[in-house]
Amino acid sequence: MMLQWLRQLFHRTPVQPEAPAHSAAQPAPEPAPRASEPDPIAALMPFQIRPLDSKDMAELLGVFREAIQVSAAAEYDQQQRDAWSQGQNYDSLISVLSEGDTVVAEWDDKLVGFAHRIRDYINMVFVHPEASRVGIATLLYQHLEDGARIEGITELTTHASLTAHDFFAYMGFTSEGQEQAERAGIPLTRHAMRKSLV
Ligand SMILES: CC(C)(COP(=O)(O)OP(=O)(O)OC[C@H]1O[C@@H](n2cnc3c(N)ncnc32)[C@H](O)[C@@H]1OP(=O)(O)O)[C@@H](O)C(=O)NCCC(=O)NCCS
Repeated sequence: MMLQWLRQLFHRTPVQPEAPAHSAAQPAPEPAPRASEPDPIAALMPFQIRPLDSKDMAELLGVFREAIQVSAAAEYDQQQRDAWSQGQNYDSLISVLSEGDTVVAEWDDKLVGFAHRIRDYINMVFVHPEASRVGIATLLYQHLEDGARIEGITELTTHASLTAHDFFAYMGFTSEGQEQAERAGIPLTRHAMRKSLV
């Protein structure tokens, strides 16, 4: 129910008020706010974006696996999703995330997404399928990009799954072409992508 409401909220079409008739004697109406201005309603979103805590690891592994198994099902077959999702376990995730910057998204005390940057490389962005398309990855990514800008980084790169290509394109990344990665001997197609921060 909440998810449906959030989706409606984020995909709502702004209602343009009918332009009232006015003459030279009457002042023109105030211009409508620009689309790029911050949306005050977005500030009411019930997610919290916060740094990674060591207690998050089990839930985080669950989000990683569910995101791959469910959200990437249209682009990768079962064998590929198994190889990809088994490519990390509890210990390897701790090791990967021990370096760089990780942020997580919490919703009703449940971890629903996380993102990880090492220097100029966006290494991971994963959102639980039940919380997809309400802007969580966008918020997570923005935190990482803000951190990179503060560090003086002028360009970000990533390897985007076929599933995540449109998300990264929406964040301003450009694909430099597809390449093959490999997990447990299984090929996985992905995009090498890049975004200038200057
Ligand atoms: C890719 C992923 C992180 C996106 O998370 P999300 O929280 O649903 O993304 P957002 O809601 O912030 O999406 C922002 C915009 O990106 C684009 N986008 C996101 N997912 C998309 C999809 N599956 N197809 C097309 N466009 C998509 C849309 O433009 C979207 O805006 P809209 O919903 O208003 O149309 C998530 O689907 C996921 O975890 N996928 C599986 C794992 C994966 O591939 N991770 C990346 C590893 S490189």
